[in-house]
Amino acid sequence: MSKPLLIGPFTQLLPMSGLPVKGALSDEQLVLIENGGILISEGRIKTIGIFDDLKSDAVDIHYIVGKHVCLPGFIDAHTHICFGGSRARDYAFRNSGKTYLEIAKAGGGIWDTVTQTRAASQENLVESIVSRSKTHLESGTTTIEVKSGYGLSIDEELKMLRAIKQAGEKTKADLVATCLAAHMKPKDWNSDKNYLEEIASQLFPILKSEGLTNRIDAFIEESAFSALEIAPYFKKAKAMGFDITVHADQFTTGGSEVATQFDAISADHLEASTENEIRLLANSNVISTALPGASLGLGCDFTPARKILDAGGALAIASDHNPGSAPMGHLLTQASILGTFEKLSNAEVLAGITFRASAALNLADRGSIEANKLADFAVFPTDNYQEITYQQGQLKPNMVWKKGEKIYE
Ligand code: NIG
Ligand code: FE
Repeated sequence: MSKPLLIGPFTQLLPMSGLPVKGALSDEQLVLIENGGILISEGRIKTIGIFDDLKSDAVDIHYIVGKHVCLPGFIDAHTHICFGGSRARDYAFRNSGKTYLEIAKAGGGIWDTVTQTRAASQENLVESIVSRSKTHLESGTTTIEVKSGYGLSIDEELKMLRAIKQAGEKTKADLVATCLAAHMKPKDWNSDKNYLEEIASQLFPILKSEGLTNRIDAFIEESAFSALEIAPYFKKAKAMGFDITVHADQFTTGGSEVATQFDAISADHLEASTENEIRLLANSNVISTALPGASLGLGCDFTPARKILDAGGALAIASDHNPGSAPMGHLLTQASILGTFEKLSNAEVLAGITFRASAALNLADRGSIEANKLADFAVFPTDNYQEITYQQGQLKPNMVWKKGEKIYE
């Protein structure tokens, strides 16, 4: 049993605990502990409170000098940071007037990254995931979901998911892997067999036996898979005990309906969702994950986050960091900007990247600063938490803690 360590005092400690997962939140609902402290042991939080009140329970004290705000470590619940190459050319094409779908149909888009990722070795992929994770960690993100989906064959999807697992052993961030073999139909699939049936029967059992992931994702879109094609795939995934998540309603609707039918953990994107989809999601347990990075990368509308919250939905916010639609990959910048366009309170923005994002990954052990949760914190050099979204990502954390260890300063 390691000795309890007290960390503080923090000018403001925002536990982000005791708040509802669904619906609108006002800043008045946020609890701010002034001169707060956190008592931790064995990587977990034992208790929190006023720093001076906790001193008698501590064996060691880590003093925080100067004015600081402490938040739960951020959770990025949707990324594609396992990839090879770049799509700077696509970005330039798009900005000169070609649409995302036109570029995809002309042979660019996701398939270009598939080619570049297949050309990369597993070791190269591991290195690039670790390096991208470092950037995310230094921005305060301590848990990162990472999808496959640029392999699109059994062997290449396995290469990606094994790289994600290996990278997870080399970075301090927790990586949560997701199988996105249903990202698009592989252009070179030349078997008589149905691609998704092959993935389900050949790849799913290996995902289980190697412990590569317990999450299955699919892109439901005209350029990828229809709701009808995905239904039997998700049925098999659920029967094997996988959690489901969906790329839904990015350009056309249909995906969020599938998400609710299959009790998905989350439906992500939702830029095209109408009142109908918003109502469906709000009346379900599916977390709606907005991906403002994709709107910024593509120059498209933002997810109707305000409407989702006002309808009683649960809103997480993730970066979608990927080489095509969301190359920036800065979660705090993107969440802050979504707040300005969608009129979100600070509480809603911060909830979207902390405890509501943990719900989007079905992880109950993080996302808030309270007893028994992981000791994951992002610490910012300011005396006012409002500065964090106000500076739109330009105020960087000057300290990040992961499982009770200071991993960045
Ligand atoms: O989440 N929408 C589909 N997939 C990714 C884009 C991937 C890519 O363009 O490479 C997304 O935006
Ligand atoms: Fe995505």
